[in-house]
Amino acid sequence: MTIPMKTLTLAFGLAAALGLCSCAGTRAGETAAAEIEAIAPSGDASSGATAAGDTVEAWLIAYPFQARTDALTAEGGRGGSAYGGSEPFARRELMPELDVNFKGIAFSVEYNEDRGHASAWKDLVMSRRVNASTPAACMTCKTGDIGEVFAEKGWSYASMPLSAFTAEEHPSITCANCHDLSTGHLEPKQPGFIEALARQGIELDSVPADRMSAYVCAQCHSEYYFEPVTRRVVHPWDGGLSAAAAYAYYQGQPSGFLGDFTQPDSSAMMLKAQHPDYEEYSAGVHAAAGVACADCHMGKVDDGGVIKTSHRIASPLSNIEGTCMACHTDRDAAWLRSRVAVIQDTVFAAQRDAGQAVAAAHGAIAAAAAAGSPAARLAAARLLVREAQWYWDWVASANSMGFHAPVAALGNLAKATDLAHKARLALAGQ
Ligand code: HEC
Ligand code: HEC
Ligand code: HEC
Ligand code: HEC
Repeated sequence: MTIPMKTLTLAFGLAAALGLCSCAGTRAGETAAAEIEAIAPSGDASSGATAAGDTVEAWLIAYPFQARTDALTAEGGRGGSAYGGSEPFARRELMPELDVNFKGIAFSVEYNEDRGHASAWKDLVMSRRVNASTPAACMTCKTGDIGEVFAEKGWSYASMPLSAFTAEEHPSITCANCHDLSTGHLEPKQPGFIEALARQGIELDSVPADRMSAYVCAQCHSEYYFEPVTRRVVHPWDGGLSAAAAYAYYQGQPSGFLGDFTQPDSSAMMLKAQHPDYEEYSAGVHAAAGVACADCHMGKVDDGGVIKTSHRIASPLSNIEGTCMACHTDRDAAWLRSRVAVIQDTVFAAQRDAGQAVAAAHGAIAAAAAAGSPAARLAAARLLVREAQWYWDWVASANSMGFHAPVAALGNLAKATDLAHKARLALAGQ
C-alpha cells in the first residue's frame, strides 16, 4: 500500500459520503491495517503494524503522531458548544430538574459533563459516585486492560469490588481498546458489546470498515445495564436500537432486572439511561449516509505529506475544518456552527420542558399518595412516570445535545412530555 493510494481512497471516501458518486452510502474507507501499512515507520509496506510489536508501549513508539494526539485528550479547555467541550462542569447547573429526577441514585451525587479518553481511568478512581459496593463492571469502558482482564477472568471480574482494581495500576483508554495490536485492524474489545453483536448474528470478521469504525466507539458509547448478581454488561438491543425497543426490552425484566433505582418522592421504580450515543447516532442522517463517528471526532491531518487520523478525540467544533468541512466543502465554518447551534438550542429547550414535566409528575404522585389516592391510580401513574423519564433520559444522557439525530431526539422528548402529563392525568383517574 503506497501513500498516494491512501490519499486517493480518502478523497473517494468523502465524495461517496457526500453522495457525489453512485456508490453513495458507503464510506470507502480502508481498514486501519492498510492505513497503518501506509505509514509504517520503515516506509516498507510489508512491515506494517506487526513490525511495531503488539504491546501498547511498542505502538506509542512506532506511531508517534497518533500517540501524541491521543495523549492530548488529557488536556481540557478545548472549544466545544455551550453543551459540549472537555470541561467537567456539573450537568445539574444546566438542568436543575436532574436533582428531582435522579433523587435516589448516585447520579444526584455527581453527574459531570464528560472529558477526554486519557482522563477516563482517573475520573473513575476519583468519582464521588464510586463507593465500597461499586462493582468492577464499572471499569469495563475505562481501561485499555479490559481485553486482558476478560481473557484471564471471564465475566467473574465484573462482580468483584472495583476497589480491587483501582488499588492496582491500570492504564486509561489506550490503543488496545480500538485496535488489534498484532494486525493493526480496528477491533472492539468490550465483551458485552461482542456478545450483543453475536446475539444479532454479527461476526466481527465480516464487518465492513465504516461499520467497524463506528463499532469501536459504540462498544463504550452506548446503553447497557449490569445483569443482577453477575454484573455482566448487557446491551438491550435484541429488539432494535431505538429508545422504544430498549424500553420494551427492559419491561421484559431480563434476568429479573426491575430497574436501577426507586425515586423516593413518587416511589416509582426507575431506569437510568447510560449515554446511548451510538443508538442516537444510528437514527440520524449521517449514519444513514455511512458517516462514522471518527469522521467527525477524529479529523484527518496532513502530517508531512502523509494523511493521518488525529487521535485527539473531542468535540468536532474544536476542529471544524478537519471534520465537518472535509465533507461539507461548499459550506463555511460559521454556517456549520449555526446549524449545530439551532439543533442544540431547540433540543435543549424541549429537553428542559420534558425534564420538568417528569419532575412535576414525581411531585404530583407524592402528593396524591400523601392524600390517600387509590392504589390503582398510583400504580398507573408510577408506570407512566417511569416510561416518561426513560424517553427524556435517553436524550438527556446522550452526548451532542441532539445533533447526532435531531428528529429522533425531538420525537423522544415529545413522547416524554406526553407520558409525564398522562401520569398526572392517571392520578385523576383519566
Ligand atoms: C456528523 C458528525 C458526527 C458524527 C458522525 C458523530 N458525532 Fe458525536 N458529536 C457531533 C457534534 C457536532 C457534537 C456536539 C459537540 C459540542 O456540543 O461541542 C457531538 C458530540 C459528541 C460527544 C460529546 C462531546 C463533548 O464535547 O462533550 C460524544 C461523546 C460523541 N459525540 C460521540 C459520538 C459517537 C460515539 C459517535 C458514533 C457512534 C458520534 N459521536 C458520531 C458530531 C458527530
Ligand atoms: C477510540 C478508538 C481508538 C483508539 C483508542 C486508538 N485508535 Fe488508532 N485509529 C482509530 C480509528 C477510528 C482510526 C482510523 C481508521 C480508518 O479510518 O479506517 C485509527 C487509525 C490509526 C492508525 C492508521 C493511520 C491513521 O492515522 O489513520 C494508526 C497507526 C493508529 N490508529 C495508531 C493508534 C495508536 C498508536 C493508538 C494509541 C496511542 C491508537 N491508535 C488508539 C481508533 C482508535
Ligand atoms: C473503552 C471505552 C471507550 C471507547 C472505545 C471510546 N470511548 Fe469515547 N469516552 C469514553 C469515556 C469513559 C469518556 C469520558 C471520559 C471522562 O469523562 O473521564 C469518553 C469521552 C469521549 C468524548 C468527550 C471528549 C471530551 O473532551 O469531552 C468524545 C467526543 C468521545 N469519547 C468520542 C469517542 C469516539 C469518536 C470513539 C471511537 C473512535 C470513542 N469515543 C471510543 C469511553 C470510550
Ligand atoms: C464524512 C462526511 C461528512 C462529515 C464529516 C459531516 N457530514 Fe454532514 N452530511 C454528510 C452527508 C452525506 C449528509 C446527508 C445529506 C446529503 O447526502 O446531502 C450530511 C447532512 C448534514 C446536514 C443536513 C442534515 C439533515 O437533517 O438533512 C447538516 C446540517 C450537516 N450534515 C452538518 C454537519 C456538521 C455540523 C458536521 C460536523 C460536525 C458534519 N455535517 C460532518 C456528510 C458529512
